Amino acid sequence: MSFRFIDFPSARDDFRADVLKGLAGYPKSIPPKYFYDEAGCRLFEAICQQPEYVLTRTETELMRDNMPEIAAAIGAVDCIVEPGAGDCSKVRLLIDALQPRDLVVMDIAGKALAVAANLLADMYPSLEVTALGMDFVHDLAAATPYLPEGRRLFYYPGSSVGNFSPEEATALLAQFRQLAGPDGRLLIGFDLKKNPVLLHQAYNDAAGVTAAFNLNLLTRLNRELDADFDLAQFSHYAFYNPTAGRIEMHLASLSAQTVYVAGSAFSFAPGETLHTENSYKYRGDEFSELAAAAGWRLAKHWEQGGFAVQLYQNRKS
Ligand code: AVJ
Repeated sequence: MSFRFIDFPSARDDFRADVLKGLAGYPKSIPPKYFYDEAGCRLFEAICQQPEYVLTRTETELMRDNMPEIAAAIGAVDCIVEPGAGDCSKVRLLIDALQPRDLVVMDIAGKALAVAANLLADMYPSLEVTALGMDFVHDLAAATPYLPEGRRLFYYPGSSVGNFSPEEATALLAQFRQLAGPDGRLLIGFDLKKNPVLLHQAYNDAAGVTAAFNLNLLTRLNRELDADFDLAQFSHYAFYNPTAGRIEMHLASLSAQTVYVAGSAFSFAPGETLHTENSYKYRGDEFSELAAAAGWRLAKHWEQGGFAVQLYQNRKS
């Protein structure tokens, strides 16, 4: 088997600066990529098991049900590249169908990624696995030297793209296109606009796992940035914003309070929120317009149970 793990510690330096900057702004915010410490990764996997959060299961079913057609539409690829691969569970269906020579996975949660990617390398002895512990949102170009030659497929499943504003998503997809090369492909999964009641339930599960995931960010700040958030004084608040077309997750302050983070004081008014995540929802045509602005031409579209997967090729190919 072939496996290598490269860690980019630069991702960590930005955590403190990003948090302090986000807390100093109005509205207060913290980028959602910082949810994923060890506990956060576990909680996200638990979210995917909740009955209300159908997104991940629906995508897996869509992929299973349509895989022969998806694989045929993609054609031969030498290398699959998956940014934000997490536990590397999603890419297995594609590896089985496409039998690539190389797999490159990236995630900001480097340690968890390394463990998962190593297991994958064990399971697929002929696959060359490269795991990059990096914040690809911050510096995707750092991955360039580790991308093998040949025909590349960028795989970005799970509606991860929903975390970015449409403008940011366009910029990210343009970067994917650059790294994928003129002959590159993009297979991307995203959650579709649907009945807001269903969306609301998906981000307010009855077991409270999403709330725990959201609040865990404060636990992380307490531990890693010497903060003193009282978790009992904040409440998970998630809702669908139909104008923006996105789920917003916030942590709402239940009282007037001052919190210290890395030596700086931040005051919350009662009801003031810390904005922790956006999850944009799209129609198929909305998304392909966005991707077109990034230079990707739509090749094929699949849709099932309120979720969509689209295949793109470089406009220049
Ligand atoms: C991993 C970004 C796709 O936005 O649905 C799940 C994260 N947040 N529940 C999403 C998440 C709350 C998830 N993504």
